[in-house]
Order: sequence, then structure tokens, then C-alpha cells
Amino acid sequence: MDDATFFIVGANGQLGRALKSKYPGAKSADIDALDITDHDSVENFDWSGIKIIFNAAAYTNVDGAETAEGRLTAWQVNAAAVASLVNVSLKHDIALVHLSTDYVFDGTQDEHTEDEPYSPLGVYAQTKAAGDIAVGLLPKYYILRTSWVIGEGKNFVRAMLDVGKRGIEPNVVNDQVGRLTFTSELVRAIDHLLTSGAAYGTYNVTNSGDPASWADITRAIFKEAGFEQKITDTTTAEYYKGKEGIAPRPLKSTLDLSKLQATGFQSTDWNVDLAKYIQKEARA
Ligand SMILES: NC(=O)c1ccc[n+]([C@@H]2O[C@H](COP(=O)([O-])OP(=O)(O)OC[C@H]3O[C@@H](n4cnc5c(N)ncnc54)[C@H](OP(=O)(O)O)[C@@H]3O)[C@@H](O)[C@H]2O)c1
Repeated sequence: MDDATFFIVGANGQLGRALKSKYPGAKSADIDALDITDHDSVENFDWSGIKIIFNAAAYTNVDGAETAEGRLTAWQVNAAAVASLVNVSLKHDIALVHLSTDYVFDGTQDEHTEDEPYSPLGVYAQTKAAGDIAVGLLPKYYILRTSWVIGEGKNFVRAMLDVGKRGIEPNVVNDQVGRLTFTSELVRAIDHLLTSGAAYGTYNVTNSGDPASWADITRAIFKEAGFEQKITDTTTAEYYKGKEGIAPRPLKSTLDLSKLQATGFQSTDWNVDLAKYIQKEARA
């Protein structure tokens, strides 16, 4: 596939950066070059020669989305702007690659398949579900539904490496369970779907391996990084007790990977990518 026909929006986020390095010939725009909430800019943009839009843009601050201002922005970026991208994709016969989240579910099922009905809990979750519904109207789309993304940017692994370095003994929740998703795994899956000619539609994409709680993952991070201080398990309710404006979190975030794997994709265990990520961070 000719990556000169690819266009990445939201190019400065964790996924955007990974896509740019996977597809060096792709055109791309960060929010300054193309703010996708500006409907006219999206509509009037020069889409000639573009065959695939990768939407790596999103409002991902789940607690911020619970504020009056954040709610507005989250709906604009994650839903209304996605409808604008859907519109230009239709108009110019472009395929749209879009990202969804485990947050579109209430987290009561042990594992989520692609066809589970939407049951989003918080504002971010609701806006992401609305975006998925809009993308699903297209004839040519891939929605990659993912969870707990780790790449170049602000993320849980970096936060815990920082906690570890500072010698803090953290309290970490043990009742939210899922799997990490490294952006390396996401771009590998995207590339696989595009090059294998897999049927358009929604695919769950996370790293494989045993589902784990944030507390378990912190233990894995500390072990890999050689930190010896204690980690205390807590519950989500206890951790956020007395704090205002916290978005509800789904407790069970594990996504069933069988649909993706049935297309011939070999998933990577999150422990393997975690070790590589921590070694790279140590060298940085
Ligand atoms: N992070 C996770 O744990 C997670 C979990 C499940 C699913 N996902 C989904 O995976 C996708 C990628 O997430 P990520 O972690 O890469 O997100 P991210 O690091 O927060 O990146 C999002 C990017 O979108 C940009 N953006 C925001 N508003 C925009 C606008 N109006 N126009 C253009 N760009 C805009 C942001 O720019 P600024 O930074 O300048 O605002 C940022 O560079 C998202 O769809 C997200 O919902 C993420």
C-alpha cells in the first residue's frame, strides 16, 4: 500500500506519533494544522489523492469530560468532528480508520466482544460511543476498539515509572481489570487489517496475555524497572472517595481478541511489550 495516500489527523497524540513513524510517507496534521472540530476546515480540506484517513484525534481526558467545559469539547471532538470525517470520507470515497474504547461498555461482562451493545457510563464514554455509531454508517471503515493505551505521551506506565523513581509507595486499584495496549501493537494490527484485506468493521485490539488489574500491572512495572518499594492494593471506590468530578470507570475492560486473531494476526503478550517499553524508557 502506498502510504502517500494516507492522512493522519491528531498526529501528535500517542497513536498519531506511532502511525507517523510506521508510515513515514503519510501526510499528517496535528490540531494546529487541522482542528477536526472546525467543520468547514474539514469539509474544504484538500483530500485529493487520499485513500485512507487515520483518526488519531480524540479528547481523552475522561475526568475532564465530566466538567461543563470538557463535556462540550468531548462531544465536539469525539462525536461531532467524527461525523465531519465520516462525511468527507463518504464524499471522497476514503476509508476511515478510527479508534474506540472499552469505555463504551459498562464493564460488567468478563470479556467484551465487538457486538456487545453500547452501555457507556461517563461523558467521555458516551461521546466515544456516538463517534463509533457515526463511523459505522460508512461503507469502508475499520474501528479498532482498544484499552489502556501506552505509547509516546502521558500514560500509566510512565506515571508509575515516575512514582517508582521518586521512591513513592503507591496505592493502586485492584478491581479494574484489563490488558495494556502498546501503540506498537495497535499500528501492527492496523497495518495487518489494511494489508490482509480483512473485512471492514470493528475489531478489538489490545495486547494479549493474562488480564490484570492496575495494581498487578504496577507490580510488573516495578519488577521490570527494579523498584523495590511496596504497592498497596485498593478499590476504585476507596481510591476516589471524597474526590469530585471523577468519571465512572468500567471495572472489567478485557476485550475478546478472537475476531482479530481469526484474520491471521498474532497478538503480543502485554508483558513482552512492557519489558521492551521499560528498557527503551531507561535508555531515553
Ligand atoms: N489513551 C488510552 O488509554 C485509550 C484507551 C482506549 C481508547 N483510546 C482511544 O485511542 C485513540 C488514541 O488515543 P491516544 O492515547 O493516542 O490519545 P492522545 O494521546 O490523547 O492523543 C489525542 C490527540 O488528539 C488531538 N486532538 C484533540 N482535539 C483535537 C482536534 N479538535 N483536532 C485535531 N486533533 C485533536 C490531541 O491534541 P492536543 O493534545 O493538542 O489536545 C492529541 O494530540 C483515541 O480515539 C482514544 O479515544 C485511548
